Amino acid sequence: NKTYRIAVIAGDGIGKEVMPEGLRVLRAAAGKFGIGLDFQHYDWACAEYYERHGAMMPEDWKAQLAGVDAIYFGAVGWPRTVPDHVSLWGSLLQFRRQFDQYINLRPVRLFEGVRCPLAGKAPGDIDFVVVRENTEGEYTNLGGRIYAGTEREIVIQESVFSRFGADRVLKFAYELSRARARKQLTVATKSNGIALSMPWWDERADEVGQSYPDIRVDKQHIDILCARFVLQPERFDVVVATNLFGDILSDLGPACTGTIGLAPSANLNPEKRFPSLFEPVHGSAPDIYGKGIANPVAMIWSGAMMLDFLGDGAGACRAAHDAIVQAIEEALRSGPLTPDLGGSATTVELGQAIAERVAAG
Ligand code: NAD
Ligand code: IPM
Ligand code: MN
Repeated sequence: NKTYRIAVIAGDGIGKEVMPEGLRVLRAAAGKFGIGLDFQHYDWACAEYYERHGAMMPEDWKAQLAGVDAIYFGAVGWPRTVPDHVSLWGSLLQFRRQFDQYINLRPVRLFEGVRCPLAGKAPGDIDFVVVRENTEGEYTNLGGRIYAGTEREIVIQESVFSRFGADRVLKFAYELSRARARKQLTVATKSNGIALSMPWWDERADEVGQSYPDIRVDKQHIDILCARFVLQPERFDVVVATNLFGDILSDLGPACTGTIGLAPSANLNPEKRFPSLFEPVHGSAPDIYGKGIANPVAMIWSGAMMLDFLGDGAGACRAAHDAIVQAIEEALRSGPLTPDLGGSATTVELGQAIAERVAAG
């Protein structure tokens, strides 16, 4: 029986509070299903690593992590001491790029027991997944500032879209649509206003789609797509988007299910040439850090996705994934709930409730 090596980076803010709950549940699942997990902790974050070293990670970070099976990541960012673009480009965005985690899978689901902020929606009405391109697009360091400090100051920020990068994420999204019941794919676009890259993105979606005649494809401009997330979320099954649009949709979607504190993500290198990274969609939430009230479900669900990926969707890892998701469902039905869910429980209380259900299962 293989033991999986997991690099654990709790990070900043509530990353430090939700990570212990994620580990608690993973340990319970590993014990129950006989899975070997070897956690190695790294203190690579703003506090205190950056403050001591002037960098988010050591120079040989890639070599240090190259042999791990996965990275379990809390959240990074502490804008009071380190500018966000510095901390994120020094950490999370490096992992995504250097480990070629070109798929960012972000499921969105309305759970029983969670009050939906949209009128008249029931569990089952919201159950889709955002497939976000994760290595290129609008996220770049290309461009610059000229005439800085003058009235003529100009800043240019390039976007980069490659055929290789677009086609592989589109193909993944078509395959995922095919594996699901509804055989339906929504492509986020903005080909009316962004006149070079987005018409081209639509063309790539069409060309890749020629191999998937069984999938119904619906291209929607990002503005109306956002509106429909709110008004008609039941329309969606798989939604594929470029990096920035996918970022926005993956906070909006979970907000429509009650709280972003539930939303997990899997940053995948599907071929397993490099470690994949599993993290909540949310950030370090400085506004609630230290109160012990952060919702740990996003962290815990991300851990379940990690096990599923490690086990290739089968065997003990699959069973452990299913048990964790079921324990989340049960806990959300009966409580205790954290304040973002309308309750008054602490992070630890909700984490313990889920871990106990996994162990008892
Ligand atoms: P955020 O996701 O940290 O917080 C947004 C809001 O949601 C806050 O009001 C917060 O209290 C609430 N919230 C977030 N997670 C919650 C949870 N688990 N339970 C209950 N409430 C929760 O976004 P932000 O405020 O824009 O960013 C804060 C910092 O986190 C910044 O430094 C940002 O760059 C960073 N960030 C990091 C990641 C990451 O590491 N993956 C993701 C997003 C933001
Ligand atoms: C996310 C985050 C990151 C992103 C930030 C922190 C750079 O918002 O994972 O959604 O935009 O990708
Ligand atoms: Mn985001």
